[in-house]
Order: sequence, then C-alpha cells, then structure tokens
Amino acid sequence: MKPITLHNKTFEVFIPETEIAAIVHSMAHNINNARIKDPLFISVLNGSFMFSSDIMKKITLPNTEISFVKLSSYSGTQTTGEVSKLIGLGQDIRNRNIIILEDIIDTGITLEKIISLLEKEEVADIKVATLLFKPEAYTKEIPIDFIGKSIPNDFVVGYGLDYDEIGRNLPHIFKLKN
Ligand code: XMP
Ligand code: MG
Repeated sequence: MKPITLHNKTFEVFIPETEIAAIVHSMAHNINNARIKDPLFISVLNGSFMFSSDIMKKITLPNTEISFVKLSSYSGTQTTGEVSKLIGLGQDIRNRNIIILEDIIDTGITLEKIISLLEKEEVADIKVATLLFKPEAYTKEIPIDFIGKSIPNDFVVGYGLDYDEIGRNLPHIFKLKN
C-alpha cells in the first residue's frame, strides 16, 4: 500500500484494516469471556469512535450499555492549574462495572485522569481495553486488562487516531515514516 501525506508529513501503512479487524475480534472474545456483569462501556472520544463501533458489534455480554465521554481541561476559577473534567457522562454510574475503551495508551496520563474521575462516581469496577499500547512510553502502574497490540514509540494515525485532527477516517493505521 502506498504511503500517504498528512500536513506535509509522510506516513506508511503499519496495521492494515484486515489485521485491525482480527485484533478487534480477539479483544471482543477476551472481553466476552471475562463475563462482566451488566457492563457499561465508556468510549473516550474522539480517537476511540471507530474502535468502539467495531468492537461493540462483537460484544455478546447481556445488558451491555455504551456511553461516550470526552476529557476536557479547563482552568478553574478558584485555583490556578489545569483541572480535568469528563464531558458527556449523563447517567448515574454508581456501582456499575465499567470498561473504558481507548484507542491508544501512551504515557498513561490521560487514562489515570479518566480513572480518577470515574472513581469519584463510586463505580463498582473499572477495566481498561485499549486497541494500541506503547509500553516504552507508559509511566503508570495501572494495569491494562485488554490490549489489542503493543507498538513501539512511533506516532500513528488512522482508524480514529489523528495527526492534528486529520487522518481519523483512514481505514488502516499508519505510522510516521522516518
Ligand atoms: P497518554 O500519553 O495520556 O496519551 O497516554 C493518550 C492520548 O494521546 C494521544 N496519542 C496519540 N495520538 N497517535 C495519535 O494520533 C499517537 O501515536 C498517539 N500517542 C498518543 C491520544 O489522543 C491518546 O488518547
Ligand atoms: Mg489526538
């Protein structure tokens, strides 16, 4: 497959869509086998939209629900410094079994923020499913329950992932060409 150009940078195919489909299928199988009771999947937008859509079609757990959130940073009025907030979580999630759906976990900073915000809502359990994981960049101790593929520390785009907001629509995952 031919390399592509996004914002004047060249990207080459790294994980073709057939391989993505196999990875997603296998992750769904593992999640189904975990027999999580009345699961509430929480898809972290924007990057996870395509992964979430594909994996949800393969989830067979009874009473499955999905909700979509976005992590926003804003400057608080009282304190200085960044405060994070989860936008989009409309319902009461107390005592729910949560499965976070992430497109990619890099340093783990985003994941840690999301988990601490969900814990404040007194959920019963939190599991994490990520399509891609960069073990060399990960700085946290939080265990990741379902990993699609561990990848080197390269910048990737496509299948929901963006380079400065473009490239999310690409069916394959590309990596920056050196
Ligand atoms: P952290 O470091 O908080 O990063 O785990 C997670 C968020 O950073 C973005 N990210 C990427 N986005 N290609 C992308 O398009 C990448 O290779 C990449 N690495 C990190 C992404 O938004 C993710 O949620
Ligand atoms: Mg991004």
